Amino acid sequence: MTIHLPNPRLAAAWCSEQRQLGKTIGYIPTMGALHQGHLSLIQQAASENDLCCVSIFVNPLQFNDLNDLDTYPQDLDTDIELLRKAGCHMVYTGTISGFFPEVEHIGQIETRDSGPASKGLEGTYRPGHLEGVYQIVERLFATVGTCRAYFGEKDFQQTLVVKHLAKKMKIDGMGIEVVVCPTVREPSGLAMSSRNTRLSIKQLETAKLIFQSLSTAKNAWQKGIRIASTLEEIMIDVLDHCELKIEYVAVRDPNAWTLHRPDHPLNEAQALIAAYLGSTRLIDNIRLNK
Ligand code: PAF
Repeated sequence: MTIHLPNPRLAAAWCSEQRQLGKTIGYIPTMGALHQGHLSLIQQAASENDLCCVSIFVNPLQFNDLNDLDTYPQDLDTDIELLRKAGCHMVYTGTISGFFPEVEHIGQIETRDSGPASKGLEGTYRPGHLEGVYQIVERLFATVGTCRAYFGEKDFQQTLVVKHLAKKMKIDGMGIEVVVCPTVREPSGLAMSSRNTRLSIKQLETAKLIFQSLSTAKNAWQKGIRIASTLEEIMIDVLDHCELKIEYVAVRDPNAWTLHRPDHPLNEAQALIAAYLGSTRLIDNIRLNK
């Protein structure tokens, strides 16, 4: 059975009660429109913890594009049914005033320093996005309390930002362990995303090029190429002359905590792409390490 708690106050009480009973909690923050990618996080959380908890909240603070917020897919009943089948124990939802009871309107919410990993790449192309993620995830973590929190590697830069947040919260006595899980892909290689539902059949064909470009970087890596700028050129070649409007193609050091382009040969790398297909923004990345 999945219980639905309609506000963070009730969710916090449930989580605290379960911890007092000695249960460990695996937590997956989401914005709903659940797909196989989310369900794989739930499976992993359920296998590594006594209880699995999910939140669904479309966070307006992280949308730098109002049209994206307005068209973000939402279907709570279907999501809850999927969660029930996946064995999630508790799902909670909320509102801006539920998460930020101290403010009267959204503009009064305090901006937080979201750390060095929020600068560059997504930070450049989606100003305010990662700060908005940081603001809400801080409240989501505070609601659930000590837990393992599961995030998909697809949002690579987001995982760096939430790790930074978890580290800060640990100093204040809250033990959140961030677990990063592999990206789940369509058979075509396209990374699963709630936004994929907006793509036409023709666009789905073109979208495959993103994974092909990342795979080309992987082949080059396996042949011994270790310089970020060279790998980026190889990736760009695959995306040339197609319908995708590239925002960035980047190779970065995944262990650096900042997203500056390294000029030294890398021992390990993260290849990342962000591109528009029509009005839909797609991101993806892979680790280069073997
Ligand atoms: O990855 C997401 O779905 C969102 O950024 C998150 C972590 C739920 C915060 O709103």
